Amino acid sequence: MKIGIIGAGHIGSTLARHFVRIGHDVVISNSRGPDTLAGLVEEIGGGLRPVTAREAAEYGQVVVVAIPYGRHKELPTDALKDKLVIDTCNYYAERDGHDPELDDDSTTSSEKIRAHTDANLVKAFNAIHWRNLRDRGRNKGEAGRLAIPVSGTDTEAKAVVAGLIRDIGFDPVDAGDIGHGGRSHQPGSRLYGAELSAEETNDLIRAGATA
Ligand SMILES: NC(=O)c1ccc[n+]([C@@H]2O[C@H](COP(=O)([O-])OP(=O)(O)OC[C@H]3O[C@@H](n4cnc5c(N)ncnc54)[C@H](OP(=O)(O)O)[C@@H]3O)[C@@H](O)[C@H]2O)c1
Repeated sequence: MKIGIIGAGHIGSTLARHFVRIGHDVVISNSRGPDTLAGLVEEIGGGLRPVTAREAAEYGQVVVVAIPYGRHKELPTDALKDKLVIDTCNYYAERDGHDPELDDDSTTSSEKIRAHTDANLVKAFNAIHWRNLRDRGRNKGEAGRLAIPVSGTDTEAKAVVAGLIRDIGFDPVDAGDIGHGGRSHQPGSRLYGAELSAEETNDLIRAGATA
C-alpha cells in the first residue's frame, strides 16, 4: 500500500519504521522540507522517501497526520479531501494555543481536523506513548499485545487502519465515531496512555467507563 506520512517526529517516524518493515511504500514529510529528513530516511531505509507534506498527501492511499494539533491549518487540504487520513493528533492547549471549543469540550480535535480537511478521517494511535508504539509490538497470540483504539464513521476505512495496526503488532479496538468515540482515547481519558489488552480496552469502552 502507498502510505504518506505528514509529521516526522516521534509518532510519524515510528510509524514510518513499522510500515516500511512490513513492506509498504512509504513517504514522509515535515514542515521544514525533505532536505532536513536525509538522516532519518537513511537510518530507516527500506525505500522510505522524504517529500513535502503536499506530496505525502497526494501519494498516500492512506495518509498519516502526526503533527501538533495547533498546526493543522497548515495541512494541504485540497490534497486531503476524501483521502483516508489517520489522525494521531492530540490537543494540548499549552503547546497548541487555546481553542475554546476544545476547552469546553463542545467538539473534538479530530472533528475539527475532519471539518478543516474534508478527509475520510480515522482517529488512531492517539493514546499510545510513542516508545510503546516503537517497542511493544507483538506477534498475534503472544502475551502482552497492546490495544489501539480506532474511531471513525467509515467502516471500510476503519478496517484498513485496523489491518495496519494488526500487521505492526497491536490489537485494534473499535471505539465508535470520532465524536463520542474519539473522546474515549483523547488526553484525559482512561485509555490515554493506558497499557491495556484488547479485552480490557473493549470492556472499558462498552461500559462507557473511559471518561
Ligand atoms: N509523542 C507521543 O507519544 C504521542 C502519542 C500519541 C499521539 N501523539 C500526538 O501525535 C502528534 C505528533 O506527535 P509527536 O510526538 O510525533 O510530535 P513531534 O515529535 O513534536 O513531531 C511533530 C512533527 O510534525 C511536523 N510538523 C509540524 N507542522 C507540520 C506541518 N504543517 N506540515 C508537516 N509537518 C509538520 C514537525 O516537523 P518540523 O520539525 O519540521 O516542524 C515534526 O516532524 C501530536 O499531535 C501529538 O500530541 C503523540
